[in-house]
Amino acid sequence: MAATILIVDDERNIQLTLARSLTLEGYLAETAGCGQEALETISAHPIDLVVMDVKMPDLDGLTVLERARAMRPDLPVLIMSGHGSIETVRKAFKLGAFDYLEKPITGRDKLLVAVRNALTMRHLAEENAALRREAGRHEMVGGGPTMQRLFDLVHRAAASEGRVVITGENGTGKELIARALHEGSRRKDAPFVKLNCAAVPAELIESELFGHEKGAFTGAATARRGKFELADGGTLFLDEVGDMSAAMQAKVLRVLQEGELERVGGQQTIKVDVRVLAATNKDIQAEVAAGRFREDLYYRLAVVLVHAPPLRDRREDIPALADRFLAEACDRNGRRAMTFARESYLVLQSHDWPGNVRELRNLVERVAILRDGPELGPDDVAGVLPGSRKPRVDRFREGATFHDLAEDAEREIIIAALARNGENVSETARALGLERSHLYKKMKGLGIKR
Ligand SMILES: Nc1ncnc2c1ncn2[C@@H]1O[C@H](COP(=O)(O)OP(=O)(O)OP(=O)(O)O)[C@@H](O)[C@H]1O
Ligand SMILES: [Mg+2]
Repeated sequence: MAATILIVDDERNIQLTLARSLTLEGYLAETAGCGQEALETISAHPIDLVVMDVKMPDLDGLTVLERARAMRPDLPVLIMSGHGSIETVRKAFKLGAFDYLEKPITGRDKLLVAVRNALTMRHLAEENAALRREAGRHEMVGGGPTMQRLFDLVHRAAASEGRVVITGENGTGKELIARALHEGSRRKDAPFVKLNCAAVPAELIESELFGHEKGAFTGAATARRGKFELADGGTLFLDEVGDMSAAMQAKVLRVLQEGELERVGGQQTIKVDVRVLAATNKDIQAEVAAGRFREDLYYRLAVVLVHAPPLRDRREDIPALADRFLAEACDRNGRRAMTFARESYLVLQSHDWPGNVRELRNLVERVAILRDGPELGPDDVAGVLPGSRKPRVDRFREGATFHDLAEDAEREIIIAALARNGENVSETARALGLERSHLYKKMKGLGIKR
């Protein structure tokens, strides 16, 4: 998409000349004749770059620069001046100007080079920010003693090649731990491949795990690599391992014993080097005792055991988690930055969080969308917290019909039930005594996304 450049100058003919040069190069140009107008345009339009005169009748360019940068710290600003004292230039740079152009701007080249540089820099800065966000995604929050012990264990287990079984309730961060184990290992630059063991249909187990050759069975139109092969050199994360079928357990055990596999319909034996991590919210030892999980497989997988504790047992971590999720939610939803009032943390810490960290994260996202900051008080939080005894703020909002209010209540019930059941629709339906298909239809009608 073409970048939009705002030209700010009190001289109309300069606005027009610059706008023309820029539009000829394929940019979109907006113009403003004074500082006030410039600030209004910046706040209302998606401007990518500002080219601005220093001397203007109302607000001078340096003041506008300062306010514009306060509003949009990512916005590059090029300053132009004909009477450029060194002092002005120095101030402009100090206030965050990207570059300085001397007036009159003769020839388009100088302008275009400066514009292109500024836009490239902005693009790189955005990419960096996105990468940092991505990297931060796997960063686990938790300053309390329980989590510190866990991090310590994860850190030590990561460096070893040992297989790890991660246990814990829904939403306690098992997948995050698996990713941290991968990131902390010598395999970190190789793939991290996830397989949900509960979701593999019986007839596809072999092909999922080991891949298949073209034409190996009906529907195998092309050859495909299985998860073990895809994870070669890296890590395979067997999620919901406690729900793995007996047939699949036997097949996984065999690769772990032999370190090699054959694709379905293939002749060749393929050697793989894969570190296997597994997670489950079941009591896997009880599954072994009950004969539902093979003991020999369990002992192969569980070289190290990591338990992700429920959030209610480490409430001291709630404020830091809530802060992190709030910042992320504001960022993701394009909301202005908000903070929690101190008493809000108490409300959050008094809840039991059956859906654990995931439930907390969803709740914070809901508060960030439904409430206006800058500070979120205890009532803001209690108002969207399921089961909270505080009065619901918008229970009888003005102008709402009975139908609207009933829908609000349904939405709230379903969202809370989903959170309690780890966002699993089947389990939620069972808990609410609804048909799964009926619940799906309701969710769709109420605009609830998983
Ligand atoms: N310590 C933590 N710091 C930051 N975010 C966390 C932490 N623990 C969990 N989360 C977040 O909570 C959510 C749930 O975590 P995750 O998917 O790892 O849980 P899980 O134990 O695998 O859940 P399930 O059993 O339902 O699959 C994710 O959005 C994750 O990023
Ligand atoms: Mg998970």
